[in-house]
Amino acid sequence: MRAPLVDGFGRVHTDLRVSLTDRCNLRCTYCMPAEGLDWLPKPELLTDDELVRLAEVFFSMGVRTVRLTGGEPLLRPGLPGLVARLSALGLSLSLTTNGLGLARSAQALRDAGLRRVNVSLDTLRPERFLALTRRDRLADVLSGLTAAKAVGLEPVKVNTVLLRGTNDDEAVELLTWALGEGYALRFIEQMPLDPQHGWDRSTMVSADEILERLRRHVRLTPVEQRGSAPAEEFLVDGGPATVGVVGSVTRPFCASCDRLRLTADGQVRNCLFARKESDLRTPLRRGAGDEELAERLRAAVTAKKAGHGIGSPEFVQPDRPMSAIGG
Ligand code: 5AD
Ligand code: SF4
Repeated sequence: MRAPLVDGFGRVHTDLRVSLTDRCNLRCTYCMPAEGLDWLPKPELLTDDELVRLAEVFFSMGVRTVRLTGGEPLLRPGLPGLVARLSALGLSLSLTTNGLGLARSAQALRDAGLRRVNVSLDTLRPERFLALTRRDRLADVLSGLTAAKAVGLEPVKVNTVLLRGTNDDEAVELLTWALGEGYALRFIEQMPLDPQHGWDRSTMVSADEILERLRRHVRLTPVEQRGSAPAEEFLVDGGPATVGVVGSVTRPFCASCDRLRLTADGQVRNCLFARKESDLRTPLRRGAGDEELAERLRAAVTAKKAGHGIGSPEFVQPDRPMSAIGG
């Protein structure tokens, strides 16, 4: 075991988000243009062996939870095998997916050791789903969710981004549906991570606004918690059901951040909004030992800034969009 990954502000890093691919089978308008993006060439992606090797180094420095993301992580060939190998290291694994194909793979993922899933879903209306994601696949997402619950990936979380003028009238409907199905719904503020650089604070639906909308229909009682969890949880009508709101922009949780990110092409990011990445793939491929990789990782963590600074005049959006960084 090595010393834990502590940054200059005393934050200990125990959580890793790994992007398994930058590709996706949806084209959500706030995330990608219709034609997709310039995908990373295959040789630049970490192989399963490389990923497992890096995961061992992260583990030796105190990382205990790994969330697999993308792009769409279910597009990664052989995902259950990778999940099994990462689980075997002692890591607790979760997955963030758009749900397409989950109906088919949920059981295999669960058997391989996956513990939890977050499924992204912004609307329950088929025509709206088509307009928002440019694909007519709402039914597949819903069957993916059903399968996740059936195989015992508990709790099944649903992540929703509300967009003004697009689906912001659906907050209560989504909540009622999620409560009925037994899914844990979380609303996430839209962040400036779109490739079109079209994000605008004035059109973002803020956490305050989301809560205000919900409160017109249900009673919300804050649940005492937080720690490093970004979602603020509320009991709905006295509980036990809850709803979460992730105010990444207006209620930043940077001060308790315990996360690191590894992109599909082997770059460590100490923040979603970092302007710099630390390359682990190049040293890995030229045969660097664990000690050197650990040193590079430590240096990346040491350089972490206090917060994302969205809203400060110096804020500059990262070069790579959300789909390449990993949500
Ligand atoms: N801001 C907030 N969430 C986003 N997602 C994609 N782009 C953004 C953004 N700019 C969400 C997706 C999904 C998760 C992976 O990230 O809707 O829930
Ligand atoms: Fe795919 Fe997620 Fe981006 Fe939608 S938001 S296009 S599901 S990566």
